[in-house]
Amino acid sequence: MPEYTLKVNNKLRTFNVEADTPLLWVLRDELNLVGTKYGCGIGQCGACTVHLNGIAIRSCSFPITDVIDQEITTIEGLSENADHPLQEAWIELDVPQCGYCQSGQIMTAAAFLKDNPAPSVVDIRNAMHGNICRCAAYNRIEKAVALAAT
Ligand code: FES
Repeated sequence: MPEYTLKVNNKLRTFNVEADTPLLWVLRDELNLVGTKYGCGIGQCGACTVHLNGIAIRSCSFPITDVIDQEITTIEGLSENADHPLQEAWIELDVPQCGYCQSGQIMTAAAFLKDNPAPSVVDIRNAMHGNICRCAAYNRIEKAVALAAT
């Protein structure tokens, strides 16, 4: 298997995988960054969302060869001490129910707030609508994104 090096959470990481291995499985199985979750595997649920050069992407849909030499940020690298305003808002509003989709939700919201620091409720709803929550905690998710933006 070929060797690849990836910059993840500001560190260079080297691993051997097949060229068509999705980024999601490199993160989880090779780099032990298991905060990024597998939901659907076809780019439809958002559970696997990470940042590619600061932009939210579905890591299940990107073969590793498409992201080499680019910057990846996962939920583990979003902040130094889990103190990103979104993470603090998530705790304050007790957002998660089962919790499975939450890292993807937070990564989508983080990329969104970077470009839209003062969003309306409609902006937040539109930005987050592609991230599915099987517990339907959508109201709390929207409120937490709004709180983090204040
Ligand atoms: Fe990637 Fe669902 S696991 S979008």
